[in-house]
Amino acid sequence: MRTYFFLLIVILLSGCDPQANESITSPYQSKIEDLLARMTIEEKAGQLTLYTSGWTVTGPALRDDYMDELRAGRAGNLFNAHTVSYARELQRIAVEETRLGIPLLFGLDVIHGYKTTYPIPLAEACTWDLNIIEKTARLYAKEATSAGVNWNFNPVVDICRDPRWGRIAEASGEDVYLGSLIGAAKVRGIQGDDLSDPETMLACVKHYAAYGASQAGRDYHTVDMSDRTLRDTYLPPYRAAVDAGAATVMASFNELHGVPATGSEYLMKQILRDEWGFNGFVVSDYTGVMEMIKHGIVENEKQAAELAFKAGVEMDMQSGFYSKYLPELIREGKISESALDEYVGKVLELKYRLGLFDDPYKYLDSVRESETLFSREFFDHGLLSAKESIVLLKNEGQLLPLSKNIPSVALIGPLADNKKDLLGTWHVAGIAEKVVTLKAGIENVASNVRINYVRGTGFEGNDRSGFNEAISAARRSDVVIMAIGENYQQSGEAASRSDIGLPGNQSQLLEAIAATGKPVVVVLMAGRPLTIGWMDENIPAILNTWHLGTMAGQAIAETLFGDNNPSGKLTITFPRNVGQIPIYYNMKNTGRPFNEADKYTSKYLDVSNEPLYPFGYGLSYTAFEYADLNLSADRMTKNEQIEVSVTVTNSGDFTGEEVVQLYIRDLVGSVTRPVRELKGYEKIRLNPGESKVVTFTITNEELKFYTFEKKWESEPGFFQVFVGTNSTEVLESRFELL
Ligand code: GLC
Repeated sequence: MRTYFFLLIVILLSGCDPQANESITSPYQSKIEDLLARMTIEEKAGQLTLYTSGWTVTGPALRDDYMDELRAGRAGNLFNAHTVSYARELQRIAVEETRLGIPLLFGLDVIHGYKTTYPIPLAEACTWDLNIIEKTARLYAKEATSAGVNWNFNPVVDICRDPRWGRIAEASGEDVYLGSLIGAAKVRGIQGDDLSDPETMLACVKHYAAYGASQAGRDYHTVDMSDRTLRDTYLPPYRAAVDAGAATVMASFNELHGVPATGSEYLMKQILRDEWGFNGFVVSDYTGVMEMIKHGIVENEKQAAELAFKAGVEMDMQSGFYSKYLPELIREGKISESALDEYVGKVLELKYRLGLFDDPYKYLDSVRESETLFSREFFDHGLLSAKESIVLLKNEGQLLPLSKNIPSVALIGPLADNKKDLLGTWHVAGIAEKVVTLKAGIENVASNVRINYVRGTGFEGNDRSGFNEAISAARRSDVVIMAIGENYQQSGEAASRSDIGLPGNQSQLLEAIAATGKPVVVVLMAGRPLTIGWMDENIPAILNTWHLGTMAGQAIAETLFGDNNPSGKLTITFPRNVGQIPIYYNMKNTGRPFNEADKYTSKYLDVSNEPLYPFGYGLSYTAFEYADLNLSADRMTKNEQIEVSVTVTNSGDFTGEEVVQLYIRDLVGSVTRPVRELKGYEKIRLNPGESKVVTFTITNEELKFYTFEKKWESEPGFFQVFVGTNSTEVLESRFELL
């Protein structure tokens, strides 16, 4: 039984509450000071420099110029240089061929798996299961560290309310409370509780800050918002990950308040260090330092290096400007060597904490690598995570689950017998050959069912040459399973879409198949919510499976044929159309909330204000009834608490899991307040006929917000309490804070 009570996140958002950045004396202080005393300025700048290793068909290959920098001690960190055989040689060069032998950090984007791939983060967030999420991070850290990686550019904690943005796939959706819990869980999984353990690695919280608010959902676009929105909605997950002990932070590409994050002292020093007490190091995102020239905040490379350094970005990924210009800037007195020493000290501190000075090859054991890759436990957990990530959007007439005794199914669509695309975006080292396709999954789970498979169409263009074969397969089958959606390159970085419908002519194929009159189940695979209005109106069963990774096909097949009862709940709103975006559950009421009887209220002429599917939504093969919402009191002081209880009953025929959700609404505040805010949840499992009383505790902590006076406080007044199966289907009560 996986249940969650409140996990309080005390997020001090106020800028008026700086936490003294106590200078914690490192146990390595004397060693660091001794090393700094022996380093040249060039070698110090090298420790603040990070380069990518290229890959060729024969494997990783560091560019010659980077190899020269490495040998000269001017490149102290690398990424994309995994596999032990390759990284070991690079580490040998650093340790044995450079003057001081300082070991390298090896970074990589291990976003949702190393060689074993788990569901994309947006999918796994729909489990609402922090144990699953933390264990996934623990397992991909175990696998990646066996291949030499000791620094993970993860977790991605960017809140996003705009599914046009392709990188929505990489994080946890729209909610600040859940996004904060998930970000902290991933830091715990990645870093474990001892960085010197060879199965743990440095985490890197990204992309700081508010990258998910790129205008119009267009990647790398301008971010512009009030400081209030920044602190209420976008900052808390970064703070939660920092509070969970994240060793590093990555600056985002975007500007904020008119300044690129890479050059923002407000973000990198005032908030991150002075308010939050972060004492790790910040790395730029890729060529973020260089990009400040194109942003138009500096004129040239040297100014870019100076601005980023002075803003508080300790390490320069990929532009090479720190290595190139910091020595000059020091000699010109524009940057102090004491500041340089402070930055280099932070990098050396983490290399010591990883144990790299004691044993530079501790992550580079080829026997461990061969014994660890593709461990059974990775696949077993991957299957569990995938099954729990699936969201049942529609099941008219209980078409699902299918019987394993049906004679035949037509399996149609470009994702039906597909390996690579089921890995999803940012699968990086993921191995497509290991993926269980949906076709293979069905063969495993329902071996008596004849499968009439037809790809039917692709992901772009309008080639209809496969339609007739698909239609005939449908006509000669009892049920149709359509595996449609996006390929892995249609979400993720630089993959924004202005139209988030089914790509290519998949909609036309779906309509043609539906016209046969056969019962159709859609298995929807994508890296974002899609606008599927026609599907919602015309297709009886829709299973939203995202991109689920190595075990995708097995998990989907077990769900289609009833071995798994879907329990996923959306952590991102599904809009009816792009015109509604941004649309999210915790919106403000406005002065003219929609009223059907009044023309002059907030609405569209051509579409409802309501989403297609709301935050927190997800069906089950069984049914859950909510009753008897009770509050232990109808008022409380700031020092008291109220117990909220509700009875949930499984009134259906299947054992199932349900995420019971608690929301509040602060009816009147010194600033306007959202109509809903998630403040707790509990995931329960009930057998048919079984009931459970679920209890939540509301304390003053859950009522705090960033007031008009910019203090993180609660304010007296009336609150509504909502408990239910999603953010709109709820039981309601209220209480007063005195
Ligand atoms: C990319 C991404 C970032 C990633 C980095 C290194 O551009 O923005 O998330 O960690 O480069 O791959």
